[in-house]
Amino acid sequence: MEIMKTVEDMQQWCLIQKRAGRSIGLVPTMGYLHEGHLALVRQARQNCDIVIVSIFVNPIQFGTGEDFDEYPRDLTRDSEVLRQERVDAIFAPLASDMYPRGFNTYVEVFGDVTEKLCARSRPGHFKGVTTVCSKLFHICQPDRAYFGQKDAQQLLVMQKMVRDLNFPLEIVPVPIVREPDGLAMSSRNVYLSPEERRQALVLYQSLQEAQKLINSGERKVETIKGLIRDCIESSPLARIDYIEIYDADDLSDIEEIDGRALIALAVKFGNTRLIDNLLVEV
Ligand code: PAF
Repeated sequence: MEIMKTVEDMQQWCLIQKRAGRSIGLVPTMGYLHEGHLALVRQARQNCDIVIVSIFVNPIQFGTGEDFDEYPRDLTRDSEVLRQERVDAIFAPLASDMYPRGFNTYVEVFGDVTEKLCARSRPGHFKGVTTVCSKLFHICQPDRAYFGQKDAQQLLVMQKMVRDLNFPLEIVPVPIVREPDGLAMSSRNVYLSPEERRQALVLYQSLQEAQKLINSGERKVETIKGLIRDCIESSPLARIDYIEIYDADDLSDIEEIDGRALIALAVKFGNTRLIDNLLVEV
């Protein structure tokens, strides 16, 4: 397994792979890998000749007061895990190489997909994500890039960017991976105290309750959101950022579920903000 630390080395290596006719799968990550990331890697391993995992805590997608400095990092452990997954290359650039002095070009997607949900409390976040992913796509030239359904909004933003700008690659969605008790895997789960970790289970429980209500015939968005709110508020440590239900394809507003809908939650426990979601179809 190669570990590339400069843009130039990574780009050269990818060019060689492309010229040899090999398909490339890219798994963009910020490291501190867990089973959720490994599900992306395994999917890429099944589909592509070459699998590249990028590990880069992207400074421009963090706002002031967010956890850029504290974000967990462990390249040694990540490398070992990825070696066992038979990954071909890790791309772990320095921020100064990705954003050298004078860097001043950004890629931004507009519309509902970048104005709702996490965009409201994280202004500029998606512009940082689309800019870094555009750079990663140019550097690694993947045929496919793998994104988790856990960050459903990020996935929609990526799909829209690739479609709107004709990037010659496919965005492959991979289902959410959960801990045995239902908590969605996230690198940020390590921030939770034992009590916060216990109470955070209410996220998945509230989504399951919502699914039951929908199965029983309820379609009204406000009623379903009310049930989720009551469920989450039963946990004293939970502070709700948002509970929303939108059209699953473009995040447009809906009053009733009729087709595919996304139920999305962001809730803080202490200083840790967790997201979770459920795709429903009626
Ligand atoms: O989901 C993440 O870990 C990041 O937003 C990504 C896609 C690696 C871009 O920095």
